[in-house]
Amino acid sequence: MNILVAKTPADAEQIAYTLIKERLAGKREFVLGLATGSTPVGMYKMFKQDQLDCRHVTSVNLDEYIGLAPSHPQSYYHFMEERLFNDVPFKESHLPRGDAKDPDAEAERYEQLVRSIGVDLQLLGIGENGHIAFNEPGTALDAKTHVTALTESTREANRRFFNASEEVPTHAITMGLDTIMNAREIVLVATGDRKANAVHHMIESVPSVDWPATILQAHPSVTIVLDTEAASQCAQALQARGSEAAARFFSIRS
Ligand code: F6R
Repeated sequence: MNILVAKTPADAEQIAYTLIKERLAGKREFVLGLATGSTPVGMYKMFKQDQLDCRHVTSVNLDEYIGLAPSHPQSYYHFMEERLFNDVPFKESHLPRGDAKDPDAEAERYEQLVRSIGVDLQLLGIGENGHIAFNEPGTALDAKTHVTALTESTREANRRFFNASEEVPTHAITMGLDTIMNAREIVLVATGDRKANAVHHMIESVPSVDWPATILQAHPSVTIVLDTEAASQCAQALQARGSEAAARFFSIRS
């Protein structure tokens, strides 16, 4: 794991955005895995401000709520249109269909699609309970794209996007941990002290289903971009990695 710690959330977003931009540059074709939630919002603004050319880029999103049609204001389809795709044209964009009649069949279709096109770089956030995509604690480490029940803590964390608790969907279709691990490169961004415990486990705990993000320790090409708050419970571990890691504590503005 390559771990970068920036001073502020904005610096962390800038670092991750710059890394993605560098990877896209000069490529004729690229498959970019995207996430929703609060974490990537600042990065998607940077795509727009830069008018980043993504006409050669195919995007695949991690997950979608079950029961929400693409036109629903809280669907991830709608989120992606509003935050990115309406302003930055992509070659093609894919998300699972949350309103599919048979969600299990839709999960299978999406798994085949993602496998067949192959993800060059997957952007991830992390849940406070250590989930990546919607692979909640207890998910098998070799899970493929599947239908999952959201934990109460995840529903509560996402409550802020809905008018009432009852409106927060109970299930989602999500890429599995194995699907995510198949990406050639992974960039995970975490900011704020709410994420500090999950980040600590992701980096320091033995890989297990209790903290799904621990599986990333086994990926050959992962960059974790943190701000100082998200890194606050692993300062000792990062220092123990020696001067190389210590040298990576930086702000891109300093
Ligand atoms: C979103 C996703 C989730 C979020 C995670 C963090 O597509 O798959 O795993 O990345 O819940 O959410 P935020 O960024 O809102 O803290």
